Amino acid sequence: MEAGLVRDLIAALPVAVLAVDAEARVTAANRAAKVLLGEELTDRPFVHVLRHPVVVRAVDAVLDPAHVPPPMVDPALAAVASGGHRMRVQISARGRDIPAEITVSGLPERKGALIVIEDGSGLEAAEQQRRDFVANVSHELRTPLTALMGFIETLRGPARDDPAARERFLGIMEAEAARMNRLVLDLLSLSRVESEERRRPAERIDLAMLIRAVAATLQPQAAAAHVQIRVEGAEAPVHVLGDPDQLTQVFHNLVENAVKYGGTGGEVTLRLSPVAHDAVLRGPATAVEVADRGDGIDPMHLPRLTERFYRVDSHRSRQKGGTGLGLAIVKHIISRHRGRLKIESEQGKGSRFTVILPDQIERR
Ligand SMILES: Nc1ncnc2c1ncn2[C@@H]1O[C@H](COP(=O)(O)OP(=O)(O)O)[C@@H](O)[C@H]1O
Ligand SMILES: [Mg+2]
Repeated sequence: MEAGLVRDLIAALPVAVLAVDAEARVTAANRAAKVLLGEELTDRPFVHVLRHPVVVRAVDAVLDPAHVPPPMVDPALAAVASGGHRMRVQISARGRDIPAEITVSGLPERKGALIVIEDGSGLEAAEQQRRDFVANVSHELRTPLTALMGFIETLRGPARDDPAARERFLGIMEAEAARMNRLVLDLLSLSRVESEERRRPAERIDLAMLIRAVAATLQPQAAAAHVQIRVEGAEAPVHVLGDPDQLTQVFHNLVENAVKYGGTGGEVTLRLSPVAHDAVLRGPATAVEVADRGDGIDPMHLPRLTERFYRVDSHRSRQKGGTGLGLAIVKHIISRHRGRLKIESEQGKGSRFTVILPDQIERR
């Protein structure tokens, strides 16, 4: 194959690809390869570009069959067409070690070889996230479960004939069971929202009415915490495309958080307003602000606040019956609605969570 054509083909590929000549000198490298391995790649010996003994041996074996091929790093990956080699290795790229799947195959007439490098770090991070999530869920379920088992034992043993203790323990057991129930419900809710995330809601709903209803539902809880909920801008109907149950869940979560964690300010404001042009959503939108005048949140926590199980103060969250999943659910629901969530907070002054939903009543 002609060298120029090889270069053009490689340049068009979305994965990192290098071509070497019969002397194992790099003749072409595409953009993705340069991002991974550095700008200066061409005209250098391959061993200087990617110093991995297994990969280097694979290149040698492809260029000259007299060479012994590399050992099979992963037999599952061994079968590659045209006598190439595929291996899963750690390579040093972008200044650190990353997992990569590398395929080395010969060009016709032993004129050289192609080296394809697939960056596996994204996959690995997703896998790590999944493991962390399972560990977190187990831990969160185990804490109330351990308490329940302890009280059952006490009720059967030492507290068997103590009616006062029994009543008190049953009360705690009920609270712990309720906590487990909330956690399971939130987990189900999260998985449902995640599975529907690609399906955009198509129902036309009145956001103003929905917000008034959320405020009314949380009125008793707010009153008990000496917090006043104010609703502004929700007098006339405001139509958006949305899932009413899910949007109710969003504002319920945000207002409940504002009452629970920002209630010391005595006031929570829900404000609905039109946005002529949202720069991020690139179009007209509707904003709903949930603002409190509580202690606010340290800026260092803001970027991670919507992560599952992330809490600023775990003890306080648990004490208030939180699962740590509220904002993660909020984030996924808003993303399903193709909107965005803005979090602003100033310590000592309060926090403001703004939900911005695109106005797209007429659908293309
Ligand atoms: N309005 C707020 N003021 C201060 N902190 C807040 C506010 N809203 C959320 N947070 C913090 O964000 C954390 C995560 O919230 P969330 O995901 O709803 O979980 P949960 O309420 O179950 O703890 C809370 O534990 C709390 O520390
Ligand atoms: Mg919450």
